[in-house]
Amino acid sequence: MSRHLARVAVVTGLVASIGVSTGAWAAEISISCSALGKEYEICKQGVDAWAKKTGNTVKIVSTPNSATERLALYQQLLAAGAGDIDVFQIDVVWTGTLSKHLVDLTGKAQGVIDQHLPTVIETSRVDGKLMAMPWFADAGLLYYRKDLLETYKRPVPETWGDLTETARLVQEGERKAGRNDFWGYVWQGRAYEGLTTNALEWIASYGGGTIVDEKGEITIDNPNAAQALKTASGWVGTVTPEGVLNYTEEESRGVFQAGNAVFMRNWPYAWALAQGGDSTIKDKVGIAPLPKGGADGRHAGTLGGQLLAVSKYSKNADAATDLVMYLTGPEEQKRRAIEGSFNPTIIALFKDPDVMKANPFIGDLLDVFTNAIARPASVTRDNYNKVSTEFFNNVHEVLSKRAQPEQALSRLDRDLKRVKRSGW
Ligand code: GLC
Repeated sequence: MSRHLARVAVVTGLVASIGVSTGAWAAEISISCSALGKEYEICKQGVDAWAKKTGNTVKIVSTPNSATERLALYQQLLAAGAGDIDVFQIDVVWTGTLSKHLVDLTGKAQGVIDQHLPTVIETSRVDGKLMAMPWFADAGLLYYRKDLLETYKRPVPETWGDLTETARLVQEGERKAGRNDFWGYVWQGRAYEGLTTNALEWIASYGGGTIVDEKGEITIDNPNAAQALKTASGWVGTVTPEGVLNYTEEESRGVFQAGNAVFMRNWPYAWALAQGGDSTIKDKVGIAPLPKGGADGRHAGTLGGQLLAVSKYSKNADAATDLVMYLTGPEEQKRRAIEGSFNPTIIALFKDPDVMKANPFIGDLLDVFTNAIARPASVTRDNYNKVSTEFFNNVHEVLSKRAQPEQALSRLDRDLKRVKRSGW
């Protein structure tokens, strides 16, 4: 095991070998997979099937849960030209940042790429070249407890104002009944990429734009964005635990799935787990679009998702590409949608009867997925991570009550101008 892979193994504590053949002719491929919720297990099943079919061997390298930590690890490995990982699971916002280390898949994807959601294909392209294959799509969703809304006779919230009111009402009621750990609303507030996705939803829902617009103009310093941040910071310590300032997806799911919150913001993967056999909230959960920022605001879910890319430093790029095409193909996307509620990127699967039966929300929320708000990754190119980092750090300051929204946004505007200098 090389030094780099050994380091990854230490960081993540997990490297598994899968395969049926180790013949001299068979390639040994390694793939990085997320381990969020059931992701590792589901990735392993897919990889296993390919290994069996082709006689190759596959190692899975599990990665940190925080998107920001994962990117740092990838950048470290790739900057050193390490061939330890052949296939990378990459975030939809990293294609521009990592493309110089990736194999161009345009030729291989011909004939299949048009089957995928155009918004996600967009995130896979750099200068017209397809640098990764779409694997699954994410959009921020509102999870709510159907049973509690019924008990307290409250509708699913349409606006953030409604959400705040209902969260407070249910929290007070549950606490009076002795549930002292009960909260109104949990989400992702740690200073990392996940906070960027949450805060973009608040801001876009209030008509405050997307940090940087499609033309590359910095638009973040505006009153609607300030209003959105003010609303969110008002939740912390009232309907949202202060601990949210250190929550990623899994911490918020932990609270919600233990039955300790009425609302949660999360991605689709949380559905399969909430509905799992050992879940205390099985059959008590509903999913809806995230609330609007006031009556004239809009429902806004951030577009997320993951792609699979082949490293330029791979010694087995052909076999690695074959694995990518298999995992992103219809059979695997369907299995993942049914078993893990991972939203497909292949449009036809949204209407697949088996997918609709297993996880009806996937078909019901096609609108949310097609209209999801993209982060300004394509336009800011390899500066995106800097833009996002400045953004989530400033938002975190506001949520921790160390800065006023207006003050943080004008500082952010200045910092982003510095990152942009003469262009992205
Ligand atoms: C999910 C999304 C990804 C996003 C991340 C933030 O993994 O798929 O796009 O950046 O969450 O935590």
